[in-house]
Amino acid sequence: MNEMTTVERIQTGDELERCPFPIPFGWFMIEESAKLAAGEIRNFKAFDREWVLFRGEDGKVGLTDPYCPHLGAHLGHGGEVVGNHIRCPFHHWEFDAEGWCKKIPYAKVMPGIARKKPVLKALPIVERYGAIFAWYHPDGIDPTFPIPDVPELEDPDYVPIRRGMWDIGTMIQEIGENGVDYAHLKFLHGSPEIPPGTGRADGYKFQTDIGEGFIVGEHHGPGIQIMRFNKDGVTMTMFSTPMPVDREMTRTRMAFTFRNYAEGTKERAIGEHLYQHSIGAAEGEDSAGFESVDLIVWDNKKYRPQPLLCDGDGPILMWRQWFKQFYAEPIDG
Ligand code: FES
Ligand SMILES: [Fe+2]
Repeated sequence: MNEMTTVERIQTGDELERCPFPIPFGWFMIEESAKLAAGEIRNFKAFDREWVLFRGEDGKVGLTDPYCPHLGAHLGHGGEVVGNHIRCPFHHWEFDAEGWCKKIPYAKVMPGIARKKPVLKALPIVERYGAIFAWYHPDGIDPTFPIPDVPELEDPDYVPIRRGMWDIGTMIQEIGENGVDYAHLKFLHGSPEIPPGTGRADGYKFQTDIGEGFIVGEHHGPGIQIMRFNKDGVTMTMFSTPMPVDREMTRTRMAFTFRNYAEGTKERAIGEHLYQHSIGAAEGEDSAGFESVDLIVWDNKKYRPQPLLCDGDGPILMWRQWFKQFYAEPIDG
């Protein structure tokens, strides 16, 4: 689909903010499961603020406000995991992963509000696919859509998940927009032609198809994208999970897998090739993956609310319109 826009005046760079938008809401992968042990506690930056991340002895993960509801001590400086709780260093109040106050060692009666609801702000957490996901909403609203099922990430007939992580110096919306920018695949990535592509918004999901079935993508809110690369009957899945660190920094993690074809088979070689290709490590005739080229653009660009588009561009404005629904406050552009 092609879209054109009429702009009356082209803004110069000094009139543009690099990353003008707030943090959107959605599910975001915050860490690999294997990188947070039971009993571990860590200061954590995400969604343009500080948190404390911990895992209780029961395996439950908490991502909470770092400032104790009692007198405001910072739980990430001297706090500890005690059993299944996070314990404040100052007076040893204890909280569970949902933020309920579970113990005040010197109180006869728990304060009234602490008996009725969690007193330490904590985000909803789901652990799946070897990853920890947090639901972030700036107004504290509960999840409005689920984490998608991706069967191949849990299938023993697939190669063990390979993972990568990149810190990208731009806001999360810009990274997703790449998926509908078909023209750059030729000029930045060096693909022989601009592949045909389609985009379709469907509630909290956005579907893309690049190269008539070569890359079939599904976005689930701003933080989860499933991209399936298909070639000669082999599918390689890229599960991409960008997380806003702040308004100008996005920690993007990717997980890759494909069916565990026997070594030496043609299918195995295709799966490996699609994987290498997608991380930009493939040699030869193929186009470059995002790692080698997109980062140069992302780290340095500015967002244009009114881009000067042409008829060969992909459905950029449709994508932006879809993405807007994940901002809790009205935004311009
Ligand atoms: S400030 Fe945390 S227990 Fe007192
Ligand atoms: Fe790209």
